[in-house]
Amino acid sequence: YAHFLFSFLFLFFCICMWGVCPFRRRGGAAETRKRLQDAQTRLLLLKDGSDRLGCQLRLHRPDTLQECGFNASQPLVMIIHGWSVDGFLENWIWKMVAALKSRQAQPVNVGLVDWISLAYHHYAVAVRNTRIVGQEVATLLLWLEESMQFSPSKVHLVGYSLGAHVSGFAGSSMGSKHKIGRITGLDPAGPMFEGTSPSDRLSPDDAIFVDAIHTFTREHMGLSVGIKQPIAHYDFYPNGGSFQPGCHFLELYKHIAEHGLNAITQTIKCAHERSVHLFIDSLQHKDLQSTGYQCSDMDRFSQGLCLSCKKGHCNTLGYNIRREHSGKNRRLFLITRAQAPFRVYHYQFKIQFINQIEKPVEPTFTMSLLGTKEEMKIPITLGEGITSNKTYSFLITLDKDIGELIVIKFKWEKSAVWPNIWNTVQTIIPWGVVPHYSGLVLKTIRVKAGETQQRMTFCPESTDDLQLHPTQEKVFVKCEVNESETHAKN
Ligand SMILES: *[C@@H]1O[C@H](CO)[C@@H](O)[C@H](O)[C@H]1NC(C)=O
Ligand SMILES: *[C@@H]1O[C@H](CO)[C@@H](O)[C@H](O)[C@H]1NC(C)=O
Ligand SMILES: *[C@@H]1O[C@H](CO)[C@@H](O)[C@H](O)[C@H]1NC(C)=O
Repeated sequence: YAHFLFSFLFLFFCICMWGVCPFRRRGGAAETRKRLQDAQTRLLLLKDGSDRLGCQLRLHRPDTLQECGFNASQPLVMIIHGWSVDGFLENWIWKMVAALKSRQAQPVNVGLVDWISLAYHHYAVAVRNTRIVGQEVATLLLWLEESMQFSPSKVHLVGYSLGAHVSGFAGSSMGSKHKIGRITGLDPAGPMFEGTSPSDRLSPDDAIFVDAIHTFTREHMGLSVGIKQPIAHYDFYPNGGSFQPGCHFLELYKHIAEHGLNAITQTIKCAHERSVHLFIDSLQHKDLQSTGYQCSDMDRFSQGLCLSCKKGHCNTLGYNIRREHSGKNRRLFLITRAQAPFRVYHYQFKIQFINQIEKPVEPTFTMSLLGTKEEMKIPITLGEGITSNKTYSFLITLDKDIGELIVIKFKWEKSAVWPNIWNTVQTIIPWGVVPHYSGLVLKTIRVKAGETQQRMTFCPESTDDLQLHPTQEKVFVKCEVNESETHAKN
């Protein structure tokens, strides 16, 4: 049902994209006329997050540079917004400006490409305009280079949605001798760009370094708001990229109840705009940077198989990314929280069971992780029955930093299938004897921490009784295990 409603909302969104938009705010006729008159791109320089007007830079007018306080010895970060359904600049822009300006240790010029009058159109028209706006941005940057020797390599374009492709067109209009330093695409728009040739969208050729954050690639009726394909040197797919935690229907419903129907566009945008908030978060929480790990798909990532940082296989999400690349594209995955600070701690757990009875066991376990800073409890259910001697690998994420892991307490919760096993046990053990034999042994728990890249092995604290028993807690402590075993694949 939730899915149905979501599709319905999405349909509204699509109607907005292609035609009459039921959510368009009706501006006065005078306002509309004015907007049409200055249907153009405005390149603004902003002092801080409260500077809503900005100071307009004008081509071939060096005096405007001075007037606007452009400092040529600092880099230039230019924010480029996306398609507009209501003709107004979105609030995240000011949040991002404030976050960029708050970094006093690394001061930057912050610019805004205001192309709202060209973006406030039917989607297809706005798409056509991205190329024009990109060329205008390139013209400005080339002029800055020519008149002030301000190298384009000191420029970082941050484009959201359609703005990501505007950045791409800006980059490709510069010419190969004047490459822009960096382009960040925040959930680059998908419709009319997915599957097109690199010259018709943002691509790794458009800047010296290109990164992208994909947050809303879930497909509805053959369309996804954010582009699915990798289009950068580093493409991050937080939570798999298709949808984001905290944007689910129930939460959306609450949002609509609180904010009325206008909240619909906001709620549809939730996952799309998450890319922006992840980027802002990376500016605001310097000590809580999120790491993404290279992986072929989310399935493998969920098994915890991709937490390696060897050979550039991981990188930092957002502003502070390591700007190095081998030329080839990397797809990076990570889990995030539903709100800022978004960072979580990733662990791979490998649990090796020995099942000495023939019947499959489907137990539910609880693990308590005791770290140097904190203890946390996590329930785990193994999707399939434990039939024979098998090692299970899975990803566990923690919201909090527990410090270095020291002890794992492993508890077999009572489960519905237990009576079956009980029968088996009773046939094995003579009646009346306290059953010490459950047939299930946990030999070792191997842990790899993504954030610290530390590998650890845990063994049972007591070797008296290695059998796992329902409702009983077994304590595992750090132990040494032969290297050859530890380095078994993944
Ligand atoms: C320009 O930026 C540099 C480097 O951040 C700084 O040292 C200098 O004071 C700035 N100049 C002005 C006029 O603010
Ligand atoms: C599992 O391992 C145990 C001990 O190493 C062995 O006795 C048992 O036969 C194995 N079971 C299977 C199905 O391989
Ligand atoms: C490690 O290997 C050595 C020799 O192969 C063996 O004697 C020792 O018991 C092994 N240790 C563990 C914990 O398996």
